[in-house]
Amino acid sequence: MEYSVQATAPGKIILLGEHAVVYGQPAIAVPVHQVQATVTVASAGPESGLTIAALDLDKVIHIADAAPDDPLAAMIRLTLDHLHVPAPDAWLTVHSTIPIAGGLGSGTAVSTAIVRALGAYLGRELAAESVSRLVYEVEKLHHGTPSGIDNTVVAFGKPVYFVKGQPIETFSVGTSLHLIVADTGVASPTRVAVDDVRKAWEQDTAGYERVFSQIGTIVKEARTIIETGGAEARLGELMNRNQELLCTLGVSSSERECLVVAAREAGAMGAKLSGAGRGGNMIALVKTEDQRQVADALRHAGAVRVIGTVVSASTRAPES
Ligand code: PMV
Repeated sequence: MEYSVQATAPGKIILLGEHAVVYGQPAIAVPVHQVQATVTVASAGPESGLTIAALDLDKVIHIADAAPDDPLAAMIRLTLDHLHVPAPDAWLTVHSTIPIAGGLGSGTAVSTAIVRALGAYLGRELAAESVSRLVYEVEKLHHGTPSGIDNTVVAFGKPVYFVKGQPIETFSVGTSLHLIVADTGVASPTRVAVDDVRKAWEQDTAGYERVFSQIGTIVKEARTIIETGGAEARLGELMNRNQELLCTLGVSSSERECLVVAAREAGAMGAKLSGAGRGGNMIALVKTEDQRQVADALRHAGAVRVIGTVVSASTRAPES
């Protein structure tokens, strides 16, 4: 009889602190549960080995023949090594509603769902911290020097206040935050933006460190506001200020600026890029009643995809 299990993982956005987080400053990220990756593992015939079917990529690979740097195969191998088990005879099917290379963490969510599904299939449910650690290893294949914020927020599925190398802090949200996420439609590999910032930092270390530390100060204040609730207008100001500093770092773009301006003109309390920058996503903090007009303005200004998401006040930090 066929046996199968399924696991999911959400998308994510970085609210504040991207780039500076790579240099030890705090950043805040939240899960986006409206989109998700789903992985199903189903038993297959004896001696058939493990086959991966990535439906959205039209890709079917046998784990035994996969290239060493294939991210899906790498995630599976790492998980099996961690669990000290050989590859089972099974089909592992990957499907995701998270746009690829859109800054919503599609690769991270797929990796996370793979670890969870494979663990569950093998009767070994893994704790969020272990899942996050394993996914981080594959993130390094994509990004070179990732801070670890993406794997943390996706594996925990809760808002996180993240400082590289420090214990993970999830936190509760005082008042629900309504966000609009808009995609510029310009693909922007995280690795390139991160490498460019590193080169610029090497040229002007003191100047860049100053900007990073200003971003860190913004993130600390923002965390208090988000936890306490209310003061959304101030949170919006902090997002706008963070955006200015990201421009100073050279990671915005004309497409992005255009969306940021359109969102603010349509009534957003704050708007900024989210993630690595250049292309990819921007986010806007809106009042419930302004959601539609800001979303319409963003589409009108050229956004290729607009998603509304709520960071819910009911989210509570776990006892971790
Ligand atoms: O491109 P994204 O959404 O994965 O975000 C990258 C965030 C950076 O701070 C630029 C890099 C990192 O590893 O934290």
